[in-house]
Amino acid sequence: MPYQYPALTPEQKKELSDIAHRIVAPGKGILAADESTGSIAKRLQSIGTENTEENRRFYRQLLLTADDRVNPCIGGVILFHKTLYQKADDGRPFPQVIKSKGGVVGIKNGIVPIVEPEILPVGDHDLKRCQYVTEKVLAAVYKALSDHHIYLEGTLLKPNMVTPGHACTQKFSHEEIAMATVTALRCTVPPAVTGITFLSGGQSEEEASINLNAINKCPLLKPWALTFSYGRALQASALKAWGGKKENLKAAQEEYVKRALANSLACQGKYTPSGHAGAAASESLFISNHAY
Ligand code: 13P
Repeated sequence: MPYQYPALTPEQKKELSDIAHRIVAPGKGILAADESTGSIAKRLQSIGTENTEENRRFYRQLLLTADDRVNPCIGGVILFHKTLYQKADDGRPFPQVIKSKGGVVGIKNGIVPIVEPEILPVGDHDLKRCQYVTEKVLAAVYKALSDHHIYLEGTLLKPNMVTPGHACTQKFSHEEIAMATVTALRCTVPPAVTGITFLSGGQSEEEASINLNAINKCPLLKPWALTFSYGRALQASALKAWGGKKENLKAAQEEYVKRALANSLACQGKYTPSGHAGAAASESLFISNHAY
């Protein structure tokens, strides 16, 4: 329903919608490198590395300066506010590094409005229960966005995939997860929304890629781009390969490139696991009561 007194000019609407389309262009998704200082501390601790400003800067630089193979894969990068002001070794501010590789820069909701209603996978609930709750939450979200006259074409949705709870004993196939996810989205998300960029939410790197691939292959009409905004599932193997040591820079970047390429294919429904996945590829990245 158009607002009687539009808050945005046609030019502003075009700008927002163009940015949203650039981020989710075919083969592209988002690198979520927006861990707060507290969250990155836990990641660094997991590889026995001290949480210093220089280690955080070096690690983010490692991701942001991976070679040009990532350029067609990464449409945008979400940074933590403080990271926005850090610089690469050559003196360029991180936002400039990202832009030079064709990416859009943002901080939490700074790229275009990204709406992020996450249902945590904590519990032993099954797939149907997650689908039910996801539909309820998304329906409420889009009612609220409508009440506030939000310009949906200029937004992205960052939801959880519909998956069983982490402690659920019943196993579901990637195709079942994909069907439940796309069904929940079709019931609740207007086609005007430009793209849906899933968070990985504790899935392993491989699971997140295979599920994204299955979602894109799901034989239902899907009016939005369906891609990734992965934090843990793009970084886990890279983080492990780095191990806090400067000399591991290239090996770590290689792991990151591998995941970026895998997810770029997955968001087009073209991913086939190669069997040459990284050190953390099949490791669960679930963290109980995880906070970003
Ligand atoms: P995870 O992929 O680790 O769930 O993070 C997603 C994200 O977009 C954080 O902003």
